[in-house]
Amino acid sequence: MTQLPGLLDTEAIRKDFPILDRMVHDDRKLVYLDNAATSQKPRQVLDALSGYYERYNANVHRGVHVLAEEATALYEGARDKVAEFINAPSRDEVIFTKNASESLNLVANMLGWADEPYRVDAETEIVITEMEHHSNIVPWQLLSQRTGAKLKWFGLTDDGRLDLSNIDEIITEKTKIVSFVLVSNILGTINPVEAIVRRAQEVGALVCIDASQAAPHMPMDVQALQADFVAFTGHKMCGPTGIGVLWGRQELLEDLPPFLGGGEMIETVSMHSSTYAPAPHKFEAGTPPIAQAVGLGAAIDYLSAIGMDKILAHEHAITEYAVKRLGEVPGLRIIGPATAEERGAAISFTLGDIHPHDVGQVLDEQGIAVRVGHHCARPVCLRYGIPATTRASFYLYSTPAEIDALVEGLEHVRNFFG
Ligand code: ALA
Repeated sequence: MTQLPGLLDTEAIRKDFPILDRMVHDDRKLVYLDNAATSQKPRQVLDALSGYYERYNANVHRGVHVLAEEATALYEGARDKVAEFINAPSRDEVIFTKNASESLNLVANMLGWADEPYRVDAETEIVITEMEHHSNIVPWQLLSQRTGAKLKWFGLTDDGRLDLSNIDEIITEKTKIVSFVLVSNILGTINPVEAIVRRAQEVGALVCIDASQAAPHMPMDVQALQADFVAFTGHKMCGPTGIGVLWGRQELLEDLPPFLGGGEMIETVSMHSSTYAPAPHKFEAGTPPIAQAVGLGAAIDYLSAIGMDKILAHEHAITEYAVKRLGEVPGLRIIGPATAEERGAAISFTLGDIHPHDVGQVLDEQGIAVRVGHHCARPVCLRYGIPATTRASFYLYSTPAEIDALVEGLEHVRNFFG
């Protein structure tokens, strides 16, 4: 068995994930390499979810009965766990949403309805990058169409990194917001946050970071990032679907207007007007995703007990091994950084002129789950002149043997397509 320095005890960890034991296509052992799409869930999270429904289920913040109080304590306790996990200065800076897309849409809409000094209008500019997930492109396009603000973006270098050579022309005195991904879901690139934040701060622009592919994989410290908003989602970090997070700086959350109106986000309501509850409740209209928050809290406990620094080291070792082994496959071209440095645990590639959907299908027949397509980052495919990629993405339970299985599977793909 291949041993690499920095690996976690995957034999023990995999026992926590019942799904990793299952067979597919009758007799194929599942090799799950689609973690950037969604991670698998450990028993501890599954138990927290069913335990919540079996013992505590009630609506939060509303009741005076025991269950309502216990459900509220669990929901708000999950907020405490998130705040600690990302080193937020205050728990009131943690807003629960449905997913990272909703978190990013929330930022765009807060700014869209804001007064000065935050208002985005025809005199101002919004900056994103060419490697964004569609959920960090479309909300800004919508905002730009609604307000007349100009949408600008950083392009990409040939090796899959951000081209910051024209940073002073892209981020200018007119820039209101710079929103960019910390780790690309398609290229795997880890972006240079400090340089972008420094320039944004020079011109007084707000910074929003999409940390969907970062929060599951590395220690997160929103204070060190020096951003104004950080978005991520629960289901990629061992939590359930249906729960996302937006962290925002407290003074901004106090100043900015709500986006969705409804129960729980108000202070008083009359038939003429309403006043709003303080953040984070101002941004959480209606019954929130209570069980999902509890599940996310359990996921955070699980990841924290292992240690995010150890998870990062494990994935780095696996990624380094994967980059090396994939480099041995004839005709394989990595789309994105060709080394393991400054890259996360997702590797996109093309294989000769075999269509990625065919690659994915033949891998699936062997029990190997990867994602194929444009990965909701179509501008990246356009930039590199390809219709799609095959993407293998790893997590704390991924093993060198699974990388070997992928490489062997790709040999079958090559043989199959001659
Ligand atoms: N954003 C997820 C992915 O990259 C769904 O696959």
